[in-house]
Amino acid sequence: MWALGAWVLLGAVCAGSAQLQFNVIKSVEQTICNQTVILPCIVTNLAQKNTKVMFVKWKLEKKEFFSFSGETEMSHTNENFSSAKLESLQNLKLGVASLTISKTQAVPGNYSCEVTESNREGETVIELVYRIVSWFTPIENSLIILFMVLAILFYWIQLAITVSKFETTLLKISLFIAGVVISVFAVVGFSLLISDEFMPENQIGLGLIVLPAVILVPSQYFLLQKVCENNLSLAIGVVVLESLGYLIAVIGFGLCVTACRPINGAVVIAGLAIMALTPVVGLIHAILTRSSKKDQASTHN
Ligand SMILES: *[C@@H]1O[C@H](CO)[C@@H](O)[C@H](O)[C@H]1NC(C)=O
Ligand SMILES: *[C@@H]1O[C@H](CO)[C@@H](O)[C@H](O)[C@H]1NC(C)=O
Ligand SMILES: *[C@@H]1O[C@H](CO)[C@@H](O)[C@H](O)[C@H]1NC(C)=O
Repeated sequence: MWALGAWVLLGAVCAGSAQLQFNVIKSVEQTICNQTVILPCIVTNLAQKNTKVMFVKWKLEKKEFFSFSGETEMSHTNENFSSAKLESLQNLKLGVASLTISKTQAVPGNYSCEVTESNREGETVIELVYRIVSWFTPIENSLIILFMVLAILFYWIQLAITVSKFETTLLKISLFIAGVVISVFAVVGFSLLISDEFMPENQIGLGLIVLPAVILVPSQYFLLQKVCENNLSLAIGVVVLESLGYLIAVIGFGLCVTACRPINGAVVIAGLAIMALTPVVGLIHAILTRSSKKDQASTHN
């Protein structure tokens, strides 16, 4: 008897072919970068393709907040979802009942989309998940910091090696101050650059890392003049390369600074890498000339 009842019930459901079917999407992700959120809801087996006979309801955790009547072409929202509207009115008759909501009104949770076409209806549930994203990836952040630290470190090493060779204290002090300034900007920049979720401070941080690095270019020239003594063309070559690195880093900064999810992080990193590694040429040169001088000195003895 019970089985018969169930069979009759099931038969009734199937006979009316009352169910609308959906392109099932379990969840969509929202990040800080989404200005609007689109909750997809796509019916795959509409029969009439006529907006007039359709009705759409959206609920969040079982509470209705949006409805659209195809007959009157009017939608109704509750106050917390005043921005909600169908993604595309024209495509509703093709089965697209997706909803757009402004970023400020979208709350994470399980949304259900209920569509009616004459006497057929169906419902699909979609979860809106909020995902925290940082501005750059952790690897990009690490590389930016690494190369900037190297650039500053090599600068200080060169200064330490050559400091005794400067006759004028003014230049010595200027180079020392340049090193302190660039180090302070970089440290402040690092602390602003890193955060779990994207914030405008991240952009200021990158600016503080990249833009003041211009100080390194002329300072490097004065240092290399001493390091490379009799090889001015090497000093000039290194400085030209360093300027090129700076230019690339600034271009990269410009490309990244307006994007919520920068895709050109590699350009900034490449520029900083060139800035960090070119002084090594000067250092190697200094070490080589020093050791060759030592060799000469030892052969003289
Ligand atoms: C948020 O934006 C991303 C990238 O543009 C997009 O793929 C995703 O579908 C959006 N999320 C929602 C819920 O609209
Ligand atoms: C709107 O949101 C507030 C706070 O979350 C809630 O108390 C209120 O019941 C909501 N209004 C409706 C109509 O759901
Ligand atoms: C949405 O529903 C899924 C499955 O029922 C559940 O795992 C999840 O926790 C729900 N999400 C929220 C925000 O309630």
